[in-house]
Amino acid sequence: MAKRIGVLTSGGDSPGMNAAVRAVVRAGVNAGLEVFGINRGFKGLIENDMKLFTINDVGDIIQRGGTKLKTARSPEFMTPQGIYAAIENIKERNIDAIVTIGGDGTLKGAKSLNDRGIVCYHIPATIDNDLGYTDYTIGFDSAVNTVLYAINNIKETGIAHDKTTVIEVMGRDCGDIALRAGLTGGAEYIFIPEVEANLDEMGKIIIDGYKRNKTNNLIIRAEGSAVTMDQIAGKVKETTGEEIRRVDLGYLQRGGTPSALDRMIATLTGVRAVELAINDTGSRAIAYTQGRVEEYEIDEAISIGRNPDLDLLELIKALA
Ligand code: F6P
Repeated sequence: MAKRIGVLTSGGDSPGMNAAVRAVVRAGVNAGLEVFGINRGFKGLIENDMKLFTINDVGDIIQRGGTKLKTARSPEFMTPQGIYAAIENIKERNIDAIVTIGGDGTLKGAKSLNDRGIVCYHIPATIDNDLGYTDYTIGFDSAVNTVLYAINNIKETGIAHDKTTVIEVMGRDCGDIALRAGLTGGAEYIFIPEVEANLDEMGKIIIDGYKRNKTNNLIIRAEGSAVTMDQIAGKVKETTGEEIRRVDLGYLQRGGTPSALDRMIATLTGVRAVELAINDTGSRAIAYTQGRVEEYEIDEAISIGRNPDLDLLELIKALA
């Protein structure tokens, strides 16, 4: 009997998930594996919502954001009944391993399955870039580029009107989107969850800019930062006497065409997941670090924390 694997996407979608699904299905089928596409992540596993995929099922998706397999957050999978139902379905269909594509919640889901004897290969995919064991998660690069596109437009109108604009970006508890977009978008100041907010410092940078005849400012607030939009607005008003314009980029930054880097990471890690399954390595979390694909034991991957690159933060302020 041919080896069988299942592939799912879970948690928040990210641009490049489709490219990863395509790589898993095509590399798997080409190697003689049977590959099940599982709908809506762990929810689909619980509900036995899956079907055998052919090469054609993943045609014309490499360039598309979102995920053909759909995605969901599944509180039921956290319950003993939910995980039991999922494992029963995996066993009934004689599936040998599951490829999980998603962020930290999905990696924890893979651990729950692994702890109960189900082999999982995890592919890191989230716009947040909050997995410590890998340099990059699929979708992060695209999200930063989408934020930059928005920044460019917002800056133009901010310049025309001599305004201070505060943009809110996603990232949950991780400031990576704000850091990268702030540095490459020429922000005056950013607030990230990992660093205590210093409103006085922001005020001083704005005032120093005004003294040099600067007439507009771009501030970025990562959604997980403890400082609120109101507090930022209050400080700008107190310092300059002016009202800010607020922009929450929300889902805009999670959709869209995946960048070349995200498609490449998705393709390389997807193919590696299939190689691992063929070689029966046991569960692994796959990383893309310093331009190379690497693997970790799932528990080790979970234990590696993430630190923000504070040099980037200093650079943003120094170049404001
Ligand atoms: O994890 C991806 C992400 O977009 C986070 O940046 C954000 O905090 C969260 O998902 C939003 O989740 P939801 O779409 O369920 O509101």
